[in-house]
Amino acid sequence: LLACLSVTLEARGPEEEGQYKGLSNYSFHDKFMFGVASAAFQIEGGWNAGGKGPSMWDVYLHEHPNYTLDSSNADVTADSYRLYKEDVSMVKDLGVTYYRLSISWPRLLPQGTDNYVNEDGVRYYKELFETLLANGITPVVTLYHWDLPQSLMVLGGWANPVMVDYFEDYARVAFKLFGGLVKIWTTLNEPHQHCSNGYGTDFFAPALSSHGVGEYLCVHYMLLAHARAYHLYNNYFKATQGGKIGITLDAFWAEPKVVNDPQDKIASERYMQMHLGMYAHPIFSKDGDYPLSVRQRVDAMSHHQGYSRSRLPYFTPEEVESLRGSSDFFGLNHYTSYLMTPSSLEPNWKVPSLDHDTGVRIEQEPSWPKPGASWLSVYPPGFRKLLNWVSNNYGRDIPIIITENGVSDTGGINDYARVDYYNRYLYQLLLAINIDHCNVQGYFAWTLMDDFEWKDGYVSKFGLYHVDFDSPNKTRTKKLSAYKYQEIVSTRLINF
Ligand code: NOJ
Repeated sequence: LLACLSVTLEARGPEEEGQYKGLSNYSFHDKFMFGVASAAFQIEGGWNAGGKGPSMWDVYLHEHPNYTLDSSNADVTADSYRLYKEDVSMVKDLGVTYYRLSISWPRLLPQGTDNYVNEDGVRYYKELFETLLANGITPVVTLYHWDLPQSLMVLGGWANPVMVDYFEDYARVAFKLFGGLVKIWTTLNEPHQHCSNGYGTDFFAPALSSHGVGEYLCVHYMLLAHARAYHLYNNYFKATQGGKIGITLDAFWAEPKVVNDPQDKIASERYMQMHLGMYAHPIFSKDGDYPLSVRQRVDAMSHHQGYSRSRLPYFTPEEVESLRGSSDFFGLNHYTSYLMTPSSLEPNWKVPSLDHDTGVRIEQEPSWPKPGASWLSVYPPGFRKLLNWVSNNYGRDIPIIITENGVSDTGGINDYARVDYYNRYLYQLLLAINIDHCNVQGYFAWTLMDDFEWKDGYVSKFGLYHVDFDSPNKTRTKKLSAYKYQEIVSTRLINF
């Protein structure tokens, strides 16, 4: 077994370890966008303050007080609803000139629909964007980072096609109100995590566990909602407001367990297509539709499970047209990698989930460090491989922006594991840009400060700043990683 393992590792290749001494021999160019990211639900708190309506995450956490690892909720979290000026000072102190954040849909539209706009929500986001701009920081604004208004959740959420219309209405309000201040928009954050974990399983709210049915409906209508918002902006706002709009997708890197094993290679490619291609191909390929391999796979699996029609809906020709090319940039979130082997496919109508349809067994290499969250192992070369996969599949013209990358730990301000992670992942990014010519134009560290980490509550900490959640003013303290990131941003070099 040991011999076999070492062959596997050797064939996977050293991570150019020799590079990890002194200064990196490549640097980030002057125009490269450095930023830091956050999301409304994870930092704002003020869950019912100033006329905000409940989001489905608020309701789910209130109804399931033991859902998170520490039985916490996000009612207050880092209290950025009150303390946003401190956040802006921290962003400024890091020396980055971009801050990615999201708007809480139910803070702006408490009932989810545009028949009533909450004035306090308008005030809050206007002040926030103005404060950022006054400090020389460009806001990069995500319309949807998972906090669906509860009033729309009870209609079935993203499994209901009416959400495409409601999302367009919400986007119109946001573009009208904030488009003078916001010049970079992203429509959706990680629809794959949202649909798979929230609709396919019960790992995330709304925990529908609908065995692939709700999951594929969620994928389908989120994609259509994205395309609607893109065209709305393009047709009615872009000319006057002069901004850009794209989407943020997420991907693990799928590494064959045994590097040269043909079956493991096939499993890895199938995983990439089912988990990233499903979302990226309709938007970034010339087809404007699901990848053929995904279409055939889900159709075949549906039939295999005894259904006479596919569980994955079909796009009309007009929808295909609207999806194709509907993003000004490729927003990519990346954290970790998995090893892939094929799994046997038993006909089992009880579990027709996307994971079951994918037909792979995933695991993490035990030698990869795991400083925090159970799913996050450190394998920096996976980042470079993923960037090459994206570039090979969708071309090198489309600009890629890394809208999230980071690591969690459970500790305090001497966060050596995070320093190491950023150094090594950013180094792989430099290799992807300089050697492989991947068109990456920006990078956002996840995240500005410790926050509410969904299932993990406050146990997994991803912040560059520490937050004392027990203190009345949620005291923020700069971590070692923040000093190091600041240095990388100012020197454009990595100093190992
Ligand atoms: C991606 C999500 O967008 C973000 O909300 C989350 O906190 C990070 N992954 C870390 O899990």
